[in-house]
Amino acid sequence: MKVDIIGGGPGGLYFAILAKKAWPQMRIAVYERNRADDTFGFGVVFSDETLETFEKYDLESYRAITANFAYWDDIEIHFKGTVHRIGGNGFCGCARVTLLKLLQERACALGVDLRFQTEVDPAAARDADLIVAADGINSRIRAEHADAFKPSVDLRPNKFAWMGSTRPFDAFTFFFRETEHGIFIAHCYQYEPGQSTWVMETDPETFARAGLDKLDEVQSAKFLEGVFAKELAGHRLIVNRSLWRNFPTIRCEKWTHDNIVLIGDAKATAHFSIGSGTKLAMEDAIALFEAFRATGGRDVKRALAHYETERRLEVEKTQHSAEVSLVWFEHVRRFWDMDPRRFAFGLMTRSKAITYDNLALRAPEFVSEIDKLVADDVRRQGFDVDVVKPAVPMFQPLRLRGMTLANRVVVSPMDQYSAEDGMPTDWHLVHLGSRATGGAGLIFTEMVCVSADARITLGCTGMYTDAQEAAWKRIVDFVHGSSAAKFCLQLGHAGRKGATRLMWEGMDQPLPEGAWPVISASPIPYYPNSQVPREMTRADMDRVVADFVEAAERGQRAGFDMLELHCAHGYLLASFISPLTNRRTDEYGGSLENRLRFPLEVFRALRKVWPDEKPMSMRMSATDWEEGGLTGDDAVNVARAFATAGGDLIDVSTGQTTPDAEPVYGRMFQTPFSDQIRNEARLATMCVGAITTADQVNTIIAAGRADLVALARPHLVDPFFTMKAAAWYGATDIHCPPQYLAGRDQIFRNSVRDRADLTELRRKAKPKQHATPGWKQAAE
Ligand SMILES: Cc1cc2nc3c(=O)[nH]c(=O)nc-3n(C[C@H](O)[C@H](O)[C@H](O)COP(=O)(O)OP(=O)(O)OC[C@H]3O[C@@H](n4cnc5c(N)ncnc54)[C@H](O)[C@@H]3O)c2cc1C
Ligand SMILES: Cc1cc2nc3c(=O)[nH]c(=O)nc-3n(C[C@H](O)[C@H](O)[C@H](O)COP(=O)(O)O)c2cc1C
Repeated sequence: MKVDIIGGGPGGLYFAILAKKAWPQMRIAVYERNRADDTFGFGVVFSDETLETFEKYDLESYRAITANFAYWDDIEIHFKGTVHRIGGNGFCGCARVTLLKLLQERACALGVDLRFQTEVDPAAARDADLIVAADGINSRIRAEHADAFKPSVDLRPNKFAWMGSTRPFDAFTFFFRETEHGIFIAHCYQYEPGQSTWVMETDPETFARAGLDKLDEVQSAKFLEGVFAKELAGHRLIVNRSLWRNFPTIRCEKWTHDNIVLIGDAKATAHFSIGSGTKLAMEDAIALFEAFRATGGRDVKRALAHYETERRLEVEKTQHSAEVSLVWFEHVRRFWDMDPRRFAFGLMTRSKAITYDNLALRAPEFVSEIDKLVADDVRRQGFDVDVVKPAVPMFQPLRLRGMTLANRVVVSPMDQYSAEDGMPTDWHLVHLGSRATGGAGLIFTEMVCVSADARITLGCTGMYTDAQEAAWKRIVDFVHGSSAAKFCLQLGHAGRKGATRLMWEGMDQPLPEGAWPVISASPIPYYPNSQVPREMTRADMDRVVADFVEAAERGQRAGFDMLELHCAHGYLLASFISPLTNRRTDEYGGSLENRLRFPLEVFRALRKVWPDEKPMSMRMSATDWEEGGLTGDDAVNVARAFATAGGDLIDVSTGQTTPDAEPVYGRMFQTPFSDQIRNEARLATMCVGAITTADQVNTIIAAGRADLVALARPHLVDPFFTMKAAAWYGATDIHCPPQYLAGRDQIFRNSVRDRADLTELRRKAKPKQHATPGWKQAAE
């Protein structure tokens, strides 16, 4: 078989090595336009985990790499005169030119035909059985076959430039500096004795204010030498094609076409802040090699199909982590006023791979500092909490007006579709009652509807009759009598999503019979087959406001501790806020201010009748996940408006506005919106969405991304989520009904042992260290 590899970067060379070693009869040529020792960039980094993979695939090149790499274990964060050093990270660095040289030598020794200074014309015909396009970020092969690969490029706003220096480092180091122009960030690491990479980053406004667009690379370096004079400690910055760029996140719908396959930066890029570009390229090479191995080493078509399906998830996961990470750096201003410890914790946990528990294992003193910081904040709010041996963040109390929550876990509102004529039933008593006894600080009702025609389905509960009020009171009394949980009533109106089927019979699908007329901001049906809602008149608005007010008064009489107005998920009030569902031309449509007018009117009317000492929240969809819809920036303004109207907490959800939305799911996928609102508008927030572990709850609270963390689906299958977490973290203060004390005692006892066992397992599972931290080895 004849294989042409276009591009002699790490991806192309590593595939050549693996393939030639496995199938020596393969005729493999690598075409590289540069000379053998030409290189851009400075150093590359690999984690212990990546090195473990390299060791498995090619011992020779692994040995060459580790013998030439410098190793470090710590990450250091320099921010406003403070330094945080966090261990246990296990990274290696080496010069890119050294890595390429080692890979070239290994490929050459195996009999790969390396052709330097040979530019490949992507349009020219090739007689190879397999063409590996490893031609980097500006891949001409990708461009030539753009119709087949369908690439997309997301050019990020921040500016960055790769530079170098002779300043030594013994940790991966982040420097943050504020200047008269704005904030500059340096991501630094040493890759051989006396050589370090400095990736410089700044936002576009700072870039423009500093006049960097008018400076060449030498002048830019001089300017940055001024900014980072203290950090450079007398060393100069070195440039090597160190032009300012915008990072392009590249994705391709297809990575293969006929006998051509894209690998490395050509197929997908990952932001430098997670140090994964070279790793991804070499792991692609491994995946392609594995695809050939799995299909017998000869069948190009099957191998490429295998590569396309097997590799995609891993790459998308890395790209997602990179995306979350780069967004943190783009919004660093948002975190600028934080306590430096919280700032450092936020930076460490930004891309979700590192969490509270994970850090507690590798940097216990740092996590103790964080626990203390959270406890100190809580103490400043007037709570008599232990700040010497503080409870973990999720078990710190919170006060909203006169309501005190024992911890930060919330049972998110969940419709049970089990009401009869709007009446909550025994199902609701058992469901809510058991979640309350399970230990969460706050539980929510489902969306309780303010009139019969405000219901989503025939199974939805209401608060518009005396009997419903009494049935709710029974549940509230049980919750208050048997648990320490506080209870929030969520009030809503279905709007255009009303008169639809029960969730398990076809969510948002119109009722086949017995439907009632529905109303909305504008007469736009949800689905093409949905009922067309009537555009609300002022008279409709008056009636709806009155219904909400009456329901809130009933809620007060029933004894609820808190009230939430549901303005999310495309229901009536949300339909006013989103431009996708509000096409009105009167004072309730058009600008955001106008679109907020009616929802705010309802909120203010509720605030008037809801007791002053009891808090109120509003739930919003912070983005519609659709072009032309609400964005995170809009959400900040929406939140501010409700806070001004007397809101105490913003419950940050997303989407469900239209069926065409394209949400980006993933662990904690909505938390960034809560983070944005909390830290830009400085409001208390509750986040929700794919949060499944106590570790994630602690991470979110400690990083200051939300004040409360709601879990919905996890609570459906585990009412005792919070009790179990309390046992795990030793939060002995948690309330437990006397009937359950024996169970609580047992789980608290067992958890101590279970936790020690798991810690040990995690320690063992950690990749081995591939070198001794320090620089001596590399220098020898
Ligand atoms: C300016 C810059 C500096 C960087 N510095 C660093 C760094 O210091 N550390 C780090 O970890 N990462 C760095 N990166 C990122 C890193 O280089 C890539 O993520 C990684 O090298 C990807 O490997 P690859 O094999 O896919 O592509 P590349 O390493 O980009 O290799 C592609 C190769 O293909 C060759 N080529 C392209 N087209 C043709 C053609 N038509 N004919 C023949 N040859 C062709 C190119 O000359 C190049 O050598 C840098 C990126 C850039 C753009
Ligand atoms: C069965 C079910 C019913 C729901 N009903 C409501 C509701 O009545 N009101 C509401 O605001 N959100 C409702 N939601 C959304 C949840 O509160 C939550 O925002 C969402 O499920 C994401 O959280 P999770 O990933 O923890 O499940 C419901 C979710 C589920 C799974």
